[in-house]
Amino acid sequence: MTVYPSQLVQIREIRGKNWFPPILKESTMSEDFLPIKGMDHVEFYVGNAKQAAHFYRTAFGFTNTAYAGLETGSRKVASYVMEQGNIRLVLSCALTPDHPIARHTHLHGDGVGVIAVEVPDAADAYLQATKRGATGAIKPTELEDEHGVYRFSAIRCYGDTLIKFVDRANYHGPYAPGFVARNGGSNGRTGRGRHKGVGLAAIDHMVGNVELGAMNRWVNFFAETMGFSQLIHFDDQDISTEYSALMSKVMQNGNGKIKFPINEPAEGKKKSQIQEYLDFYYGPGVQHIACSTGNIIETVSQLRDNGVEFLRVPTTYYDDLEARVGKINEPIDQLAELGILVDRDDEGYLLQIFTKPVEDRPTVFFEIIERHGARGFGKGNFKALFESLEREQALRGNL
Ligand code: FE2
Repeated sequence: MTVYPSQLVQIREIRGKNWFPPILKESTMSEDFLPIKGMDHVEFYVGNAKQAAHFYRTAFGFTNTAYAGLETGSRKVASYVMEQGNIRLVLSCALTPDHPIARHTHLHGDGVGVIAVEVPDAADAYLQATKRGATGAIKPTELEDEHGVYRFSAIRCYGDTLIKFVDRANYHGPYAPGFVARNGGSNGRTGRGRHKGVGLAAIDHMVGNVELGAMNRWVNFFAETMGFSQLIHFDDQDISTEYSALMSKVMQNGNGKIKFPINEPAEGKKKSQIQEYLDFYYGPGVQHIACSTGNIIETVSQLRDNGVEFLRVPTTYYDDLEARVGKINEPIDQLAELGILVDRDDEGYLLQIFTKPVEDRPTVFFEIIERHGARGFGKGNFKALFESLEREQALRGNL
């Protein structure tokens, strides 16, 4: 593998970790100066990538399509690329104690280190974001091997999370240079290690938790440095229970393909679920990844059979469901059996369910969502859901 660390762009200034982008004006929010084709991958930094890969295969139905590690010449990091539908997760662990991934997992536990989006030009994306105030993390870089050229760059996002810009238009190998295909690669059809999947199709949205008072600064970060606009705003009146509360704003990119809601804790009688996350993650980070499916009953049935644990709402939730959300295609008794929630807005309805955290710390979890026209996030379910979350939080001694 030949590495060409190109110096296409000079980093203006590396700012400290506590730097926040300035509050900005509306006028800069509409122009799509940073076009994004879609999500490229989400990279988890984990303590043991081999075992995590096994979990995402057997529990969530992903197939390991590419690998880099000692056998491929990667001396410091082992990475497993896991794919299902259009979702690509990369599970990476450090092979040495002083590697940044080792420090990340020591501090945060297993969590999302990198949110990667596919762009037409990784150097220009970096230039556009950094000239508007984003902090550069990885300068525009090219990796080249016999399969072509893979280009990427990265900026800093909330906490220790990076946003990576990937341009793979001229790269035709397995995942990225340095990786070898596993189980037939991305487009493989056969192979013992291939999982037929549980129907997960794409990443619908990814939510970040930030500290009290920081939400608007990160809303402005996405607006100013990446040209996102605000789709929805939920305040603590929308999202509160007797005990805890949170506020949320949903940011989306120019073509609407990328949605990044941002939560901050709000004052309640007891500790907000967002604060519990921040306490155990030791700072801001990705809270949940929502994966879409075309058949949530089938997907959740399989996930449950595979041992994935979900949050449950009281069965009374289903008593007056049809009165609240109107006619839906799915049999309500099956939804009740699986604990799937329903919400309706002006454009249609959606079905959703949330897993329990997928690690011992009460941090990152997944959402499974099926949309029938609705473009919201399940506002009508917030109360029932958060009461369910609080029961879990109380069991952990954190409410
Ligand atoms: Fe969500």
